[in-house]
Amino acid sequence: MCGIVGYVGPQMGSKALGVVLEGLARLEYRGYDSAGVALVTADGLQTEKRAGKLENLRSALDSHPMEESRTGIGHTRWATHGGPTDGNAHPHRGGEGDRLALIHNGIIENFHSLKKALLAEGVEFVSETDTEVAAKLVGREYDKLGDLTAAMLAVVNQLQGAFTLLAVHADSPGVVVGARRNSPLVVGLGDGENFLGSDVAAFIGHTRHALELGQDQIVTITPDSYSVIGFDGAPAQGKAYEVTWDASAAEKGGYSTFMEKEIDEQPHAVGDTLLGRTKDDGELVLDELRISEDQLRNVDRITFVACGTAAYSALVAKYAIEHWTRIPVEVSLAHEFRYCDPIVDERTLVVSVSQSGETMDTLMAVKHAKELGALTLSICNTHGSTIPRESDAVLYTHAGPEVAVASTKAFLAQITAAYLLGLYLAQLRGETFGGDPKELMTELREMPEKVQEVLDRMDRVVEMANFMADTRSVLFLGRHVGFPIALEGALKLKEIAYIHAEGFAAGELKHGPIALIEPGQPVFIIVPAPESPHDLHKKVVSNIQEIRARGARTLVIAHDGDEDVVPFANEVIRVPHCSPMLAPLLTVVPLQVFALHLALAKGLDPDQPRNLAKSVTVE
Ligand code: AGP
Repeated sequence: MCGIVGYVGPQMGSKALGVVLEGLARLEYRGYDSAGVALVTADGLQTEKRAGKLENLRSALDSHPMEESRTGIGHTRWATHGGPTDGNAHPHRGGEGDRLALIHNGIIENFHSLKKALLAEGVEFVSETDTEVAAKLVGREYDKLGDLTAAMLAVVNQLQGAFTLLAVHADSPGVVVGARRNSPLVVGLGDGENFLGSDVAAFIGHTRHALELGQDQIVTITPDSYSVIGFDGAPAQGKAYEVTWDASAAEKGGYSTFMEKEIDEQPHAVGDTLLGRTKDDGELVLDELRISEDQLRNVDRITFVACGTAAYSALVAKYAIEHWTRIPVEVSLAHEFRYCDPIVDERTLVVSVSQSGETMDTLMAVKHAKELGALTLSICNTHGSTIPRESDAVLYTHAGPEVAVASTKAFLAQITAAYLLGLYLAQLRGETFGGDPKELMTELREMPEKVQEVLDRMDRVVEMANFMADTRSVLFLGRHVGFPIALEGALKLKEIAYIHAEGFAAGELKHGPIALIEPGQPVFIIVPAPESPHDLHKKVVSNIQEIRARGARTLVIAHDGDEDVVPFANEVIRVPHCSPMLAPLLTVVPLQVFALHLALAKGLDPDQPRNLAKSVTVE
């Protein structure tokens, strides 16, 4: 995925470059293979672009300053078509004299055939990107029609795939045109200036008034107006809303990395996600769901669709919701869902989980579920993003903006929202098999404080990470709700510290993975609460003994007061006691802190790990 910014300011203004670069800095988490800008200046169109992080573009601009301008667009890229080179960086140019500049997020799936036709007409290309095809097409239409909105409209219906496009033209100062299909674009409404962005972070330093665009819409902004039309050319409306967080929430605020800041914000992420969702007597109220109580009572199967960390939160949800509601719950990786002929009908609730709300695999799974007649509910952290809009209902998490590529606070908020959903369904159906929903809610409300307690105890984990900077491989074991946490611990370590790591269900150990254990092999074990049902605790303690006997270095995450683990642990990391089902909110925190500090000890940038982007808007 890529980050996109557009700006138009007042007649006498000249701050376009500053606004665009500031927006790109806030969007760099979306992709950082290359960056570029285009400004409409008194001397015509000027562009500058560079491979690598935004710093490289800034250095190029310092050596070759651009003219003053009030109209600009900027792009930060996560490469899909064509490697991360200066030439493939956006903007791309088109039209007579290359007077149009265009930037793009997404993939134009039919670009080969479009390019072939253009090449046959003698059009020359200078990059390997799909984007340049759109630049050439919109440029050519502008030359015919003399109007940027009309030119965009003439092209969008020829394109297949997912795209957000922004364009400016040398002959249209004070105008930026954007178009979106299956890819995000929001409008920022200022006073005498307007903005476009992949998300509100692009302009949050300037305005909190935003406009959500619908699917297949084109927006035209000038300094004091905006207009929206559909891809059919008919006038359309955006949906205005106020952003509830400010620029400081999207900045590091004294931390050296976003990931560290976001880990520390977790008590708030959980607390804010619980806010306003219970009556004084503890009864849950989720009116916002927009699905009737009767429809929810009728649900006989739940399928979660999600990717990566979000899918691990769904795995936690499976244990909790099945236990509390006795409804069968299945978790499907969103990219596999469509291809396994899912068994889904109008009594199935398909719950998507996504921080960004724009992961393409998850979006496509939601669309497929709708086609099959399922009820769709989105657990999402990003207001106005595509997945909640495509779903029948939404339960927003309130983790605030998550910038670091590795998801931390959104994960805790997703688990919290899934607990809310499970307890709400149990309440609605009068189900008490897994305990009284009101009592469980009372305990859930204590969790933000307990998460804070875990954070306050992390000194030893930081020391361990520093000491283990040369480690080549780490294993993670867990059972029941500890199993998804083992998977998440391993994912964190892989993605930011580039260390081979694997998570296993501890019971699976003797079915193969135990062969990996050799003297000194570090293994994290997530131990369930001692009172867990089915002797789970005892079984995990036995697993620790089995690996310890074979020389493993056992790094044990256990509840306060659990002394059974002590004889077999090289390290014990304590978390406050809580009931077994809620423990993931606590046990994952040391694993996040460990991965972060191991990455820092290796001199890596945890916020922008290699080859990754914050959300994956391609299939
Ligand atoms: C998490 O650390 C990852 N970077 C990644 O697995 C992420 O959770 C996944 O891509 C899903 O993203 P989403 O929540 O925005 O849909």
